[in-house]
Amino acid sequence: MSGIEGKDIREESTRLSEEEVPLKPGPMPGLPNEPVPQPAVPGVEPEPLTLPGLPAVADPEEADDSAENEGDPAAQLRELEQALPDGEGPNKPYRVAVFASGSGSNFQAMLDTARAGQLGAQIALLVSDKPQSKAVERARAAGVPVFVFTPKEYDSREAYERVILEELAKAKIDLIVLAGYMRLLTSVLVEPYMGRMINIHPSLLPSFPGKDAAGQAVAHGVRISGATVHFVDGGMDTGPIIAQRAVDVYPEDSAADLQLRIQDQERLLYPEVVSWFAAGRVKLDGRQVRLF
Ligand code: GAR
Repeated sequence: MSGIEGKDIREESTRLSEEEVPLKPGPMPGLPNEPVPQPAVPGVEPEPLTLPGLPAVADPEEADDSAENEGDPAAQLRELEQALPDGEGPNKPYRVAVFASGSGSNFQAMLDTARAGQLGAQIALLVSDKPQSKAVERARAAGVPVFVFTPKEYDSREAYERVILEELAKAKIDLIVLAGYMRLLTSVLVEPYMGRMINIHPSLLPSFPGKDAAGQAVAHGVRISGATVHFVDGGMDTGPIIAQRAVDVYPEDSAADLQLRIQDQERLLYPEVVSWFAAGRVKLDGRQVRLF
């Protein structure tokens, strides 16, 4: 297969613990423990969703399947979706693909929220590079379609990402949710889903991007850390920030202790953010993410 030039856009953190703990929200005196949505600016029309240096994500209704799509990965993806047999149409219900490599506790939180009728979206696909992972087991138990692949069976990252892209198009996915997907991504996936791919990272970005965020925070001696949900762009954990939650860091904490405390908050925060997307409430204005 001929290679599409793709650049690595981020380095996934090493999971510190896959152990699950019961949810214990842990209020923090004096700290903002709730995601703080930014209010709409009265009288100002939301801008189309754009990321720096990239074209606006066009309304799928206005998609043009002509040769104008050449060199526009998002338009090519829409063309591919439209060529496939149609189920319920591209956007109804809002369809989410979760990418996970490990325990999948964030994925499970999304399934539980959907089951409770509070996600406003359908978890339409789980993508995993680890066939034996707990995330895959959870998807099968919940009856969620699974696409698993074994990276070493492909010549390159771009090669397996092209296969994933086809699966996403078939499933008519509106939003990609990275939840502990421990692989580098290339432009093959990132570009077509620019503005429609989000990640959760276990630190208060821009502090401690990359690997072992909790370990970095403990080693640095910070007293507050947390979780960040952000758009995926062309950098490592650099995309516009959508929401954050803070947790205390105690002097006696190990990296594993902190990671578990952060994950308690992630499981509350991430499904809520996905529900905002499903409700069409998230708008991007430069680096500012506004909730309408
Ligand atoms: C989560 O803590 C998430 O923030 C982290 O992996 C964990 C997955 O847990 N992601 C990263 O470190 C990405 N840089 P889960 O599989 O139990 O949801």
